[in-house]
Order: sequence, then C-alpha cells, then structure tokens
Amino acid sequence: MAANPSRLAVYPGSFDPLTNGHVDIIERGARLFDRIVLAILVNIDKAPLFSVDERVGILREVFDDHPNVEVETFDGLLVDYARQRGADVIVRGLRAISDFEYEMQMALMNRHLNPDIETVFMMPAESYTYLSSRLAKEVFALGGSITGLVPPVVEARLRAKGRRA
Ligand code: PNS
Repeated sequence: MAANPSRLAVYPGSFDPLTNGHVDIIERGARLFDRIVLAILVNIDKAPLFSVDERVGILREVFDDHPNVEVETFDGLLVDYARQRGADVIVRGLRAISDFEYEMQMALMNRHLNPDIETVFMMPAESYTYLSSRLAKEVFALGGSITGLVPPVVEARLRAKGRRA
C-alpha cells in the first residue's frame, strides 16, 4: 500500500445530541488520524431535537480547540461523501455487543459499495458504554440529570429549549 502522508477519517452520525460518548470517540480519533471530519447526516425523514445548523454549531463549539477536527453535513451515501472528501477511513464507536450487528451490517455494506474505504471501530471509555443520544434525550425530558453525560453546552441548549425538547 502506498504511504499516506495525511490520513483523513470521517466520523458520521446524527449527533442529536452530541454525548460524552461521541466526544470520547472523537478525541481518540483525533489522536489516531491526521484529520477527522464529524459528518452530520441530514435526515429529512427524522424529526430531530436539534436542527442540523444547531448541531453544527454545538460540534464546532465543543471541538473549537481541536485544529484537526472539522464539522460538516452530508446526505446521500456515506461512502460517496467520504470519497468526495478524500477520506479512506470511517470511524464508528462500538459500545456493546448490542451495537455489533447493526455496525457490522453497515460496515460490510459500505465495503460492498466501496472496498477502498475501511471502517475502524473504537471503544469508548467503559463509563459511556450505556450512553446513547436517545437515552440522554429521554432522561432529560423526564426530569433526570444528564450532567456528565453530555457536554455542558448541550445541557445548556437543552435547558434553553425546555424539558419538552
Ligand atoms: O450514529 P448514527 O446516528 O446511528 O449514524 C448513522 C449513520 C449516519 C452512520 C448512517 O445512517 C449512515 O451512514 N447513513 C448514510 C446513508 C448510507 O450511506 N446508507 C447505506 C450504508 S449502510
């Protein structure tokens, strides 16, 4: 394989909202790759909690001090977006066995679509293995504490939206 002087990875997701589990994976990815693009899926079928623009703003704010972390949006096929950006790695987090089947299907489908793009799985710190955006939203909506589960800026934005966010 030819030497790759600057390796660009894409970390795709909905990030609705960004959790500390995502932050953990992004920091690991930023250490491993020269540059990592956080690629927010524009999904017109879903009713998101935060708009795409709000999510872009949150991710940029949280990773403001990471010069090799970029934030973008994409729609369509992930492999097409990755190729267009010049990335040959897709990063995904694996929390537990329950993630495995879905992640394996996506990784193998993406490999089928473009064999030149490799999916790299990373495990977050054990303390985040039970954490998901869906549960963080639910806990917040039901009045539970999400401190330590999401970055402070996400908690503040959720509070600004109100409990029924
Ligand atoms: O972390 P999420 O929210 O589960 O992310 C899912 C995501 C964005 C990685 C996935 O839905 C995706 O890649 N969508 C793009 C559409 C696509 O490429 N589909 C075919 C390959 S499986």
